[in-house]
Amino acid sequence: MARILICDDQEMMRDSLAAILAREGHEVVATGDGPAAVSRLSTGRFDLLITDLKMPRMTGLELLSEAKRLRADMPVVLMTAFATVQTAVEAMKLGAYDYIQKPFDGEEIKLLVDRTLEHNRLIRENATLRSMAEASLAPRPLVGDGDLMREVKRKIDLVGRSTATVLIRGESGTGKEVVARAIHAASDRRDKPFLAVNCAALSENLLESELFGHEKGAFTGADKLRRGRFELADGGTLLLDEISEIAPALQAKLLRVLQESMFERVGSSVSQQIDVRVVATTNRDLETEVENGKFRQDLFYRLNVVPIDLPPLRHRPEDIGDLCRHFLSLAARRCGQAYRHIEPEALRLLTRYAWPGNVRELQNIVERAMVLETEPGLVRASTIEPWLKPAKAPSTAAVDNLAGKPLADIEKQVILTTLRRFQGHRVKTAGALGIGVRTLGMKIKKWKEEGEESLVGVEAEVD
Ligand SMILES: Nc1ncnc2c1ncn2[C@@H]1O[C@H](COP(=O)(O)OP(=O)(O)OP(=O)(O)O)[C@@H](O)[C@H]1O
Ligand SMILES: [Mg+2]
Repeated sequence: MARILICDDQEMMRDSLAAILAREGHEVVATGDGPAAVSRLSTGRFDLLITDLKMPRMTGLELLSEAKRLRADMPVVLMTAFATVQTAVEAMKLGAYDYIQKPFDGEEIKLLVDRTLEHNRLIRENATLRSMAEASLAPRPLVGDGDLMREVKRKIDLVGRSTATVLIRGESGTGKEVVARAIHAASDRRDKPFLAVNCAALSENLLESELFGHEKGAFTGADKLRRGRFELADGGTLLLDEISEIAPALQAKLLRVLQESMFERVGSSVSQQIDVRVVATTNRDLETEVENGKFRQDLFYRLNVVPIDLPPLRHRPEDIGDLCRHFLSLAARRCGQAYRHIEPEALRLLTRYAWPGNVRELQNIVERAMVLETEPGLVRASTIEPWLKPAKAPSTAAVDNLAGKPLADIEKQVILTTLRRFQGHRVKTAGALGIGVRTLGMKIKKWKEEGEESLVGVEAEVD
């Protein structure tokens, strides 16, 4: 399964080639001239370009050099008539991978395409291996090129340059930690430490000394001085995982470090200054935790300087193919095998599934397939189908709590929560709820007249 771009001015040629490759399970885009191909290349990723040499507007050679400039790693195969074979040979010196002489039959081009893709995959794998060996702590790549992930990547690049605190929100397994590492790697702190603390895994006391360290004798069992994560991460990045789980007393201390970059070790009165970029993650709705008095509002605002929302995998099925290939080659490398192929039908199944466990679940399934497939390196639809649990109705717990309440109350609750989520923005709220802005306005007006208190905070931003 690869994404292949075809460029040929002859419609018949282009269509039949596209049909042959599509039957092989590839995703094919066919263009009729060089400029159209260039525009495709500049907006999307392709694994291979197959282009004719003689075309009006832009020759195959010109397209080749544009392609090398835009996508240096993408192999280019040229199609040529007998008379231009010499040019094709020249083209290979300019970086084309191979050429094929017209006319050719389906089998010939299929073979060439397979060989080119395989060769390129090996080169890429080699390059990855080499770079992994060079930096054993190499950042894990953030795979996914769909619109939603591109937006996430854009934000990572933007915040990378700053020291702003980042709050990464997303369901379990969506890749929050991968994003946190990517932020570190995108910043000029990348050569300094990246440390992580899971706030849910430790008791309050242990977490406190994990974060801030302790002096010798600070409490029973503190037989040595211990430096905390903030101190150890000085100059670098500290990931506070599952921040919603942090106890109230610690929330206050954390707020202070974030505001003043100062802290004391447990049992010490000496303040220390540090320079740490904090990235926090949560899979809970912190706004609700604030409303319920479980999370300090001031800390929430301090953390929420730059929020990054990681969409659940079911909202970005376009990334599933790339993620599969990524996990397959990771797994293959680990067991010293080569991965060959995901059946198109298997990919279709994966794309349709709802992924309650998000990317982590996808990774598990792909790795399991790698181990259990009788033919190594092949992922078959029949193998994975039983592993894809039928989707449950989303968050039944939340619906259970609402069942039996007057609909008018539920409606009000939903509208007010949505309004808060969009910081009082009426157009966005109405859009999300699928109602008219005027209708929303009338409801808000009515609730205000009835003295609805929770509208007070929102009101300022609304009017
Ligand atoms: N975009 C991605 N590209 C590559 N690998 C990913 C991506 N997203 C997630 N993963 C992989 O999926 C697994 C889960 O990701 P991660 O641990 O970052 O999720 P999380 O959101 O922190 O989950 P949790 O809330 O359960 O801690 C990891 O093995 C990670 O490497
Ligand atoms: Mg995590």
